[in-house]
Amino acid sequence: MGLAILIFVTVLLISDAVSVETQAYFNGTAYLPCPFTKAQNISLSELVVFWQDQQKLVLYEHYLGTEKLDSVNAKYLGRTSFDRNNWTLRLHNVQIKDMGSYDCFIQKKPPTGSIILQQTLTELSVIANFSEPEIKLAQNVTGNSGINLTCTSKQGHPKPKKMYFLITNSTNEYGDNMQISQDNVTELFSISNSLSLSFPDGVWHMTVVCVLETESMKISSKPLNFTQEFPSPQTYWKEITASVTVALLLVMLLIIVCHKKPNQPSRPSNTASKLERDSNADRETINLKELEPQIASAKPNAE
Ligand SMILES: *[C@@H]1O[C@H](CO)[C@@H](O)[C@H](O)[C@H]1NC(C)=O
Ligand SMILES: *[C@@H]1O[C@H](CO)[C@@H](O)[C@H](O)[C@H]1NC(C)=O
Ligand SMILES: *[C@@H]1O[C@H](CO)[C@@H](O)[C@H](O)[C@H]1NC(C)=O
Ligand SMILES: *[C@@H]1O[C@H](CO)[C@@H](O)[C@H](O)[C@H]1NC(C)=O
Ligand SMILES: *[C@@H]1O[C@H](CO)[C@@H](O)[C@H](O)[C@H]1NC(C)=O
Ligand SMILES: *[C@@H]1O[C@H](CO)[C@@H](O)[C@H](O)[C@H]1NC(C)=O
Ligand SMILES: *[C@@H]1O[C@H](CO)[C@@H](O)[C@H](O)[C@H]1NC(C)=O
Ligand SMILES: *[C@@H]1O[C@H](CO)[C@@H](O)[C@H](O)[C@H]1NC(C)=O
Ligand SMILES: *[C@@H]1O[C@H](CO)[C@@H](O)[C@H](O)[C@H]1NC(C)=O
Repeated sequence: MGLAILIFVTVLLISDAVSVETQAYFNGTAYLPCPFTKAQNISLSELVVFWQDQQKLVLYEHYLGTEKLDSVNAKYLGRTSFDRNNWTLRLHNVQIKDMGSYDCFIQKKPPTGSIILQQTLTELSVIANFSEPEIKLAQNVTGNSGINLTCTSKQGHPKPKKMYFLITNSTNEYGDNMQISQDNVTELFSISNSLSLSFPDGVWHMTVVCVLETESMKISSKPLNFTQEFPSPQTYWKEITASVTVALLLVMLLIIVCHKKPNQPSRPSNTASKLERDSNADRETINLKELEPQIASAKPNAE
């Protein structure tokens, strides 16, 4: 007889162990269900319903119709509430340490002993959204040495995969120093990366974006734009030299054109159109050698 009951219970245990996976946000609420699929007619007042964690510590117990606190472990006191409508236990203020499996048992109490009617296993995972990656610019900008950027994103879970910078149209992933740290109290992760950028001559607009990759998603920072606010001294001087040259040539040309004789038409006008093009192309240096013969040949006519 005793053996028969034992076998009966074992069979019940095997056939009625339901397994559920659920996810909760850090500091949010986890739902640990215990759906009672057997014998709908049995009321709560005839049953014992309780939840246990992996270490068999009791989260909550509903004993023959009333809450029973004496078996509840201290770490769960005040953190749970029971939803009678769908037999779900709410675990509040979820921490990363709460990740793991939970068992709900529904027992019937006959006059002697107890029978497990149903067991539900819930696997809880806890997630936290990383903050939007943020690019910061190191303040010390010293001329030609370029700039240093850092990007950070904080307080996420699970562990992130990687963080990198994207520059303008390139698909290359940049970054010199990726670091992942974990808060030893909250167990949340933070991640950062840094990048040293030099301004190549001639590139005057640059857009940098920082990307964080986790198992499930990619999050991008707001783009950071650089314009020619940080010209290198060399480029700066090149510009000045170029514009002074252009100005001088224009003045000379003006003199030439003003004193031009009617029977000498084509060459000086060629020079004029060439100069116009060059001065439009901002920083291109003007090829003086190419112009010199023309200017030289025009000069005597001016006198
Ligand atoms: C946790 O949530 C409460 C309210 O739900 C909020 O006041 C508190 O700032 C949150 N804590 C963290 C660390 O997010
Ligand atoms: C539920 O129990 C009541 C009596 O307690 C009975 O009349 C009814 O038929 C039962 N319903 C089911 C579905 O078992
Ligand atoms: C149980 O019901 C509540 C509302 O009554 C709902 O918020 C919760 O999501 C439900 N849980 C499940 C597991 O269905
Ligand atoms: C976390 O991020 C997801 C996807 O971006 C969003 O749907 C969800 O509302 C966020 N949750 C919290 C608590 O910030
Ligand atoms: C800028 O440079 C000065 C001296 O070179 C240094 O003391 C300061 O900490 C630097 N600031 C930053 C933000 O790197
Ligand atoms: C950027 O970092 C490098 C080392 O990684 C350093 O040599 C350089 O001076 C830094 N530049 C600025 C502008 O902080
Ligand atoms: C980036 O791509 C856009 C469109 O594809 C193009 O107009 C622009 O010139 C490119 N910029 C650079 C610096 O290559
Ligand atoms: C967390 O780390 C800090 C320093 O890194 C240390 O002082 C503190 O004791 C640690 N706390 C715990 C709970 O380990
Ligand atoms: C940066 O440049 C892009 C185009 O290159 C533009 O769409 C965006 O609005 C700019 N952002 C800022 C903050 O200026």
